This record gives sequence, structure tokens and C-alpha cells, in this order.
Amino acid sequence: MSALRVRVWRGGADGAFREYEVPRRESQTVLDVVTHVQRHLDPTLAYRYSCRVGMCGSCAMTVNGAPRWTCRTHVDKVARGERLEIAPLRNLPVIRDLVTDMREFFDKWARAQGQFRGERGRRDDVARVSPDSAKRRLADVGIECIGCAVCYSACDVVAWSPQYLGPAALNRAWTLVNDERDAAQAARLRAVAGDAGCHACHTHMSCTERCPKGLSPTAGIAGLKRAVAVAALKGEL
Ligand code: SF4
Ligand code: SF4
Ligand code: FES
Repeated sequence: MSALRVRVWRGGADGAFREYEVPRRESQTVLDVVTHVQRHLDPTLAYRYSCRVGMCGSCAMTVNGAPRWTCRTHVDKVARGERLEIAPLRNLPVIRDLVTDMREFFDKWARAQGQFRGERGRRDDVARVSPDSAKRRLADVGIECIGCAVCYSACDVVAWSPQYLGPAALNRAWTLVNDERDAAQAARLRAVAGDAGCHACHTHMSCTERCPKGLSPTAGIAGLKRAVAVAALKGEL
């Protein structure tokens, strides 16, 4: 059996790579490699995962220089020869080894008014939104986000401007802008219209290229720019 030479980030932001030798196996994922290191070579390695099937969004890391979900990334697709380099996500504080602090990432969802604000109480009839409505279809395009922060890590504007809300929070805001039941539209558009909001996006497309769920935060951000402009012209902001 051949072996992979795997460089894994150890320590905090000022840490360094340490090299391990991991047996190469058929259909092996990058998460399998990290798990092998932790279970068989170095139990002090810190990393994070939960579902292993591309649903929870907790396993994202930087693999050979690019952010990826590691549970669905096959070694065959990303290894350079027999080499892998695995580091924590960029643009987030490193807690230890491969674990990043996600608080700022999710705080930005709140700052972008990424929570649904309904008007109905439990005694009201349920709201009915037609699956064919134009807004429902726009919301559908961005709704499958798993909060993995791959797009956030890929975004150079986040790296340059740490206040920038970033592609995931803005994508979430766009799905809610298209939610016909939501009652906080003006507040949401005001939240994304500021200097740290949608107009800071340079349309680099890195978020869209990297999103493992095939979403396009870039398109959602463009939609927010249009919605903000329309609301401003109507004097609603
Ligand atoms: S399109 Fe906008 S949000 Fe996406 S990576 Fe580029 S600058 Fe960042
Ligand atoms: S938009 Fe895509 S890359 Fe960004 S957090 Fe959601 S699923 Fe992950
Ligand atoms: S472990 Fe849940 S998405 Fe990878």
C-alpha cells in the first residue's frame, strides 16, 4: 500500500506544519486522512466534523491551498502526487490546529439580519407560499447553505476588510429578502446597504467557485444591490 505525506497545521496562528505518513486507501477522503492522524498517530490533534455526509458544514479546512469540505473531498482529486497539506480555514481566528473560531462568521449572519422575522402567532393559519412564485424560486437558489464558511474563507474582500459581512451572511439575507412571509425587509436592506454590506463585494466569484453546495452568493449579492437601489429610490431605506 502506498503512503501519503501529509503536512498538518499544528498550534495557533503562529503554529507550523508537522508531517505525517498516512496509508493511502481507495475512496479515501481528506477527513479520513485527518481522522487517521488523530486516531493512530497523534491524539492531540484538534479538528472538527459531525455528519461526514456533507450536511453539517463543520469539517471545512484548507486543503492544498484551497478551502473545501473535507468529508466530501476525495484524496484522489486533490493530492499532488502523494502530498497533502491541510490547514485551518483562512479569514477566521485559529483556536488550535485545524479548528477555527466561527463566532465572527455567524455574528455577521445576525448583523445581516439573517434571522426570519415572522408576524403570525401560533393561533394564526400557516402562511402559504406558492412553489411557483418568482420570489420563492429566487429563495430556493440560495437556501441550501450549510454554513461551512468555505466561501468566507475564499473571499479576498473579507481578508482585506474584516468588517465585510461576507458571502454567506449576504446569501442568507438574500434568501430572506425573497421570503414573502418575512416582516423585516426594510431593516434587512438597511443592514446590508452599509459600507460592510453588499456594495463592498468586488464580484471576484471566488465564493461561487468554491461553494461545495453549488450556490452562487455572488448572484445573491448582485440581487441585494438591486433591491437596495430600488428601496433607496422609493425612499424606503
Ligand atoms: S463575489 Fe464578492 S463575496 Fe464572493 S468572493 Fe468575490 S468579493 Fe467575496
Ligand atoms: S454559501 Fe456555500 S460555501 Fe458559503 S457557507 Fe453556504 S454552503 Fe458553505
Ligand atoms: S462533516 Fe458534516 S459537512 Fe463534512
